[in-house]
Amino acid sequence: MAEAMKGLKRTHRCTEVSKADCGSTVTVMGWVQKRRNLGSLVFVDLRDRSGLLQVIFDEKDIGAEGFEKAGTLRSEYVIAVVGRIEPREGAVNENLKTGEIELRATQLRILSESETPPFPIEENSQTKEELRLKYRFLDLRRPDIQRNLMLRSKVTTEVRKFLTDEGFLEIETPILIKSTPEGARDYLVPSRVHPGSFYALPQSPQLFKQLLMCSGYDRYFQIAKCFRDEDLRADRQPEFTQIDMELSFVDVDDVIDVNERLLARIFKEILGVDVQLPIQRMTWQEAMDRFGSDKPDLRFGMELHNVSEVVKDCGFSVFTNALAAGGSVRGINAQGQGHMPRKKIDALVEFAKGYGAKGLAYLAINEDGTYKSSFAKFMTEQELDALVAAMEGKPGDLLLFAADKNKVVWDVLGALRIEIAKNLGLLKKDDFKFLWVTEFPLLEWDEEEKRYVAMHHPFTMLMEEDLDKLDSDPGAVRAKAYDIVLNGTELGGGSVRIFQNDIQSKMFDMLGFTKEQAQEQFGFLMNAFKYGVPPHAGLAFGLDRLIMLMAGCDSIREVIAFPKVKDASDLMTEAPGPVDEKQLAELCLACTRSEETQE
Ligand code: AMO
Ligand code: AMP
Repeated sequence: MAEAMKGLKRTHRCTEVSKADCGSTVTVMGWVQKRRNLGSLVFVDLRDRSGLLQVIFDEKDIGAEGFEKAGTLRSEYVIAVVGRIEPREGAVNENLKTGEIELRATQLRILSESETPPFPIEENSQTKEELRLKYRFLDLRRPDIQRNLMLRSKVTTEVRKFLTDEGFLEIETPILIKSTPEGARDYLVPSRVHPGSFYALPQSPQLFKQLLMCSGYDRYFQIAKCFRDEDLRADRQPEFTQIDMELSFVDVDDVIDVNERLLARIFKEILGVDVQLPIQRMTWQEAMDRFGSDKPDLRFGMELHNVSEVVKDCGFSVFTNALAAGGSVRGINAQGQGHMPRKKIDALVEFAKGYGAKGLAYLAINEDGTYKSSFAKFMTEQELDALVAAMEGKPGDLLLFAADKNKVVWDVLGALRIEIAKNLGLLKKDDFKFLWVTEFPLLEWDEEEKRYVAMHHPFTMLMEEDLDKLDSDPGAVRAKAYDIVLNGTELGGGSVRIFQNDIQSKMFDMLGFTKEQAQEQFGFLMNAFKYGVPPHAGLAFGLDRLIMLMAGCDSIREVIAFPKVKDASDLMTEAPGPVDEKQLAELCLACTRSEETQE
């Protein structure tokens, strides 16, 4: 095999040849997608990452030995073919980039053979994801995944170009860092040299990028690997990639400006899609009130209506009790869905319960204007009419109501809105609706810990006009934080940072850190702030999510070369796995429990 490439040099990828090359001799190399024997001819579809090229083996051109060899080719063999490009003799294949031509082989070399793969290497694979991931090296040969990874590479290249032109420096920050308690759970790495001590893998380069601002690098970016030990979902992986950046001497508008131009550039250059600038902005409060979500999908309407005022004196105790307990009653109007069969409505009720609803009240407006409803019997006709009017209900509409604490009502209706739109096929993947969500609450009350936690992170600056509320009404303080949302997915987020030590100390206070704890966790940052710190702000995009949406995929696993599955394991390498006793001993570690001893 050392001689495999001797005398051969690839001249083209499979689809880099065209009609213009007819008559010229080329050398291509790749994988056998399919072989067909047609009497005196052998046809092979040759595949490489660029696509397919039809190769035709004719004894007349390649000789008896070569022809016989061609007859032995099987799927996924790796071969090199020298030949002449010619117009296709058979029918032109419109679906193929090289559909008008074929390669008439004059030389064939088998570079390696292949066992029969456990699943066909083909677009839109029907193979179970588990099997695909176990054989990811084969799965990665499929054209759709190859396109995704090529798209990803194009995007990072464009990001680097754009940000470099804008005066950003690409700087790497460490992967072995100190563990900090805020945010998700850390992945820990034991230290051999310091027994009993651990590094953490970074959840993001946050602290380091702020330090870089203190050091004068005024515009930083990094395509950064981040690690978070949290429950996985379709858009979450334990290790993922951020396009991370930080800027000095800026405020909210500056960060938004550069980032929306970055997005517009990427979408135009790579997808040919025009992003209308400026991108729409909405405060967090408005997003919650209108869409029940801090990442609203703007591809369709079905906005929430607050009907608390309308039903406050009605006879339906589910509504009035929720209001008495300080909650609200809100609804959505699924226009034209009044005919929805009971079974489907019941499925929506169950769906709502999954989001914490105690129930879901519904009212369908029949074509003749009469109502079919789960609660009509508790209300007078006038009360019902007023409710329908408040919901802008028309004959044929279906109204759905949730009554509970605001948070539950928002969660339920926000999710229901998406679910119904999904069922109705309203979510077009090539319709890109961007939105900035701004003025997030600074703090969030944690029921379990009975304290406030930072909604974004503890270094986020509050809006100056809310400074006086920090003591009197902390929950109402708004942050200089912003998220960029695309089609209902949080694509990225960031904030203006606190750079004043007194406000930072106050913030740590609010979050329940003692002075000592704050010093111990974040002392280096506080220290840096003592020596001249510029006002600074930043943002990070989830690169995987960006590519997922650009590629029209439903999961970030489709745009990551080697992703993990739900339980955070890698099915191909079988990581995580046990280690030698010797390795543990070196690290002064002992396991008190393993998966086998766990029930
Ligand atoms: P944040 O935690 O909002 O901010 O993360 C920024 C973006 O990263 C993506 N993301 C993820 N993608 C895949 N899997 C995950 N587990 C995951 N977690 C987050 C999301 C998210 O919007 N340091 C701050 C940014 C800043 O303030 O500058 C940060 O990490 O798309
Ligand atoms: P019940 O009187 O409990 O049978 O409820 C009557 C209707 O109100 C049913 O359709 C329930 O699904 C609905 N419902 C119950 N609790 C709530 C709630 N918190 N919000 C909205 N609807 C509810």
